[in-house]
This record gives sequence, C-alpha cells and structure tokens, in this order.
Amino acid sequence: MDRSDLSEPLYALEAHRTDMGEATIAGLFAKDPRRFADFHVALDDILFDFSKHRVDRTTLALLLDLARAAKLEERRAALFAGDIVNPTEHRPALHMALRNTRGTPMRAAGVDVMPEVLAERRKMLAFAEDVRNGRVRGAAGEPFTDVVNIGIGGSDLGPAMASEALSPFVAPHLKLHFVANVDGADLADTLKGLALDRALFIVCSKTFTTLETMTNATAAREVVVAKLGGAAVAAQFCAVSTAQREVAAFGIAEDRHFRFWDWVGGRYSVWSSIGLSLAIGIGAARFEEFLGGGETIDRHFMETPLACNVPVLMALIGIWYRNFWDYVVEAVIPYDQRLRRFPAYLQQLEMESNGKSADLAGAPIESATGAILFGEPGTNAQHAFFQLLHQGTEIVPVDFLVTAAPTAADPEQHRLLLANCLAQSEALMRGRTKTEVETRLRAQGVGEDEIAALAPHKTFHGNRPSGMFLLRQLNPRTLGELIALYEHKVFVESVVWNIDPFDQWGVELGKELALRLAPLVADKGMPLDGLDTSTAGLLAQLRRWNGK
Ligand code: F6P
Repeated sequence: MDRSDLSEPLYALEAHRTDMGEATIAGLFAKDPRRFADFHVALDDILFDFSKHRVDRTTLALLLDLARAAKLEERRAALFAGDIVNPTEHRPALHMALRNTRGTPMRAAGVDVMPEVLAERRKMLAFAEDVRNGRVRGAAGEPFTDVVNIGIGGSDLGPAMASEALSPFVAPHLKLHFVANVDGADLADTLKGLALDRALFIVCSKTFTTLETMTNATAAREVVVAKLGGAAVAAQFCAVSTAQREVAAFGIAEDRHFRFWDWVGGRYSVWSSIGLSLAIGIGAARFEEFLGGGETIDRHFMETPLACNVPVLMALIGIWYRNFWDYVVEAVIPYDQRLRRFPAYLQQLEMESNGKSADLAGAPIESATGAILFGEPGTNAQHAFFQLLHQGTEIVPVDFLVTAAPTAADPEQHRLLLANCLAQSEALMRGRTKTEVETRLRAQGVGEDEIAALAPHKTFHGNRPSGMFLLRQLNPRTLGELIALYEHKVFVESVVWNIDPFDQWGVELGKELALRLAPLVADKGMPLDGLDTSTAGLLAQLRRWNGK
C-alpha cells in the first residue's frame, strides 16, 4: 500500500484538531440537539454511545477518509478471505472461522477450513457435555466436580474471563479453576481442598512448550500420580493444543486432545477448543450462543457501512486520541462485577496486538501505536483511581460497560449501579466550573476566605471523553458480541497504523533471558560473569538470603 495516500487525511485531521482545540463536549451537545441520535449505534443487544467523545461530524468524516485511504475495506476483505495478514509468521488470522456457526466455507491458504473446524467443535462440545453430565468420569469412576484449566495468556485469559462473566450460566455442580502463573502458589492454592479424583485438568497451550503451563501441568501430573497412581493421568487430564506430538508425549491420548490451528492467535482463541472449560461450565448450547454472538459482529463488521460500523468507530476514535491528542492511556470500566477480568483480557488483546513499533514492511512507525489500557469494575474504581480521571493532568478516555438488567442480582442494587455509571460519564464530560463551586459553597454558608481556598480544589475541568456500551443483559451471546467488537477494533487500528496485530515478538526476549537465568538462580556455584552489575548483584543477594 502506498502510505502517501494517507498524507492528505492526516494533514486534514491535524488541522481539524487545531480548530477543535477550544470546543467542549458539553458545547457540542448544546449546539446539536441531534447529537445523541446521530452519535450512537444500536445493535440488537448492545448500544454504543459515542456522543460523549471529543468528536464532531467533521472529525468522523475525516477519520473515515483516513480509514478509506488506509484501504480498510480491502484489508478487511483480505482478513476474511484467509490471506496472510500475519506476515511475520506467514499465517492468516481466521479466528472468525471458529465462530462460523453455519459452516459456510472459509479458506486459509485456499483450503476450506470449515469441515475441520466443525468436526473439532463437535468433538469438543460432545466431550464437554459428557463431562458435565457425568458420562465421562475420573479414574476412580467419580463424576467430575472441578475443572482446572492450566494455561497462560490467551490460553487462560479468555476462558477465565468468560467463565466469570457467565457464572450464572455455569452448572451449579461444577467449579471452574484457572491456573496460569509459574508462581507455584497459583497451583498450590487451587489444589488445596480439591478432591483430585473429581478434578479434570485441561492443559491449554497452543505450542505446548510454554514454560509456565508446562511447569504447572507437570506439577499437577506429579500430584495426580502421587495420589491416584500413574494410570489415572489418562482419565484426569486432557489437552487443547496445536502440537500433537508434544501432547502425546505428555501422556494424553488422541481422543482427549482437542486441536486448533496455527491460524488462530492465542489471544483470539477463546472461540476454539481453548474454550473447553467454559463449554463444560455453561454447556454446548450456551457455548454455541457465545459463538453466535461473535459471528453476529463479524457480519456487522463485514457488511455495515463504515460510518455506523461499531468496531470501525471504536478504532477511529482511539486513533484520534492516540495520534492527534497524544492520549497515552485508555480505561475500560465495566459496571458489572462479573466482567471484573474483562480489562485484563483486553490488555492482552489490545496491547499484545498493537504494541508495536515496526510496520508491516519492518520500517519504524512514525505515529504512536497501541494505547496503554487498564481498568477495574465500577463502582470500586470510583473509590480508587477516578480522582485522577476527573482532576488529574492526564486525560484518559474511558469505555464504560453496563447492562440494562442484572443476570441474577438485586434489581434495586442494579439501579444504583446504573446510576453511578451514567453519573460518572456525565461528570467526566460536564465537570464543575469554579463559579459553580463558589455558588454552591456560598449557599452552604461557607465564608469567602474558605471559598477562595477551596474553590480550585473542588473545580473539575470536565471535557473528559468517554464512550458507553449499554448491553441488554450479560449472557453468552452479548459477551461474544462484546469480545468480537474489541477484536475488530484492534484490527482496524492495526490497518491504519500498518502493523501486524497477530504476532507478539516483543515477549520473546524476556522468555529467553528467563531460561538463561533460571540455572543461575538455582545454582550457587555458577559464576555470574557477563551479567550487568544489577542482575549479578540481585542474584548474589538472592543466593545469600536463600542460603544456596
Ligand atoms: O505471551 C506470549 C504468548 O505467546 C501469548 O501470545 C499466548 O497467548 C501465550 O504466550 C500462551 O501461549 P501458548 O498457548 O502457546 O502456551
């Protein structure tokens, strides 16, 4: 692609940014009574309100020009056509095939993957139902009551987040556990009090070589062998991986190995057999609803004009802030306790995908790329870091997420939750002027000296942008929709930034160094030569304290 096509829209956006300098979001509302009507998109179950963002009609038109100049429509078609959109790993990125519920052909390198995808999905869901219904049992003939997913990154965050989000749909006789950290405390705490003969261990790893996962899986197998005997491993373990030989070498039989493919990125894999723990918990029918939610968004992304295409709008607004306002951080605040892990899930999705500084051709990228994302559930977040969001020197655009109806909670408490969510987005936008503060203090009978001292502290500048995702309810379908919206947002951003969102080379160096340092941590005798003095000094102190 000729990136010079982008010069004109980029230049126009720079100029528009300067023009917009003084405009306030509240002022934009005052000028435009149709602002909410025209600045939201209502899907069947999710309403995306972007009217409290720092954008006007010109901004959107120019951002859409930018997307077209970046050949978004062509790149989107290439993604769905199974072209090599991940060139550094020579792979397509076809996670959409995993949520294709109709089986319409989707090709990777020209070959229709759907027959294999559907067959694997049937195998995985049949197994999930058998575990759930007690037809598949542990070595001692006991039905499973606990499912322990051992995996990390994309082999953990998706199923862990979704299992919590959909906990009201999880069968009450089942408990789902997730072990990720190489810190042995994670596995030890999970195993504490667990009836091993009723526990199914799912080793989830695309590569089946990841240090954390293989360490935890080996440790779990040792515990099973010690307590139940070597023969029990076959009954208590299963695996999800692309690596057939490694799975077999671990002692897991073919019928307990659920496959996926190298064209599924780890952070896009929750739709595959990596979702097995979730499928066991919520059952096959609900899991298919989850896939259906993702598929609905694929159609929306493919077929809806760019101007009302939700992932496109999400991405373009993100680019507007990142590249034209220099906002470095974005917050995602779910007003939903069960979406507690959603920000962590998005951190991998967004930051591992778009945290890049080389473009598709390997050249340095001139603009800023992926934002730093963080978040915690509201209302807890209000009592922790919202102070900075309201009055700090950094502007942090916020995505609020909230459901109209609770899944299984007190409706009165839910009204309070909703009110708080709406109040925060309004407060960020409106702020409170110094004059308003002074008037209020005067009305409370505060003296003039005290008013002068307090007013600057109580003033909120406002004009802080946020978007709102209002979900009808949190259920498998809407969760699937939500995840797919963010996945495609990440893709659209990557197109404009011209980066590969499907590789993650930046995590490799740390892994290599850890492998090099592990023997030095363990062995007091090994020389510390060749290390920087900080690492050597820390290792020496560790050895002294640990008495090795
Ligand atoms: O952290 C890097 C990474 O490769 C992630 O992209 C991936 O989700 C995670 O490690 C786990 O990898 P695997 O599923 O191969 O164990």
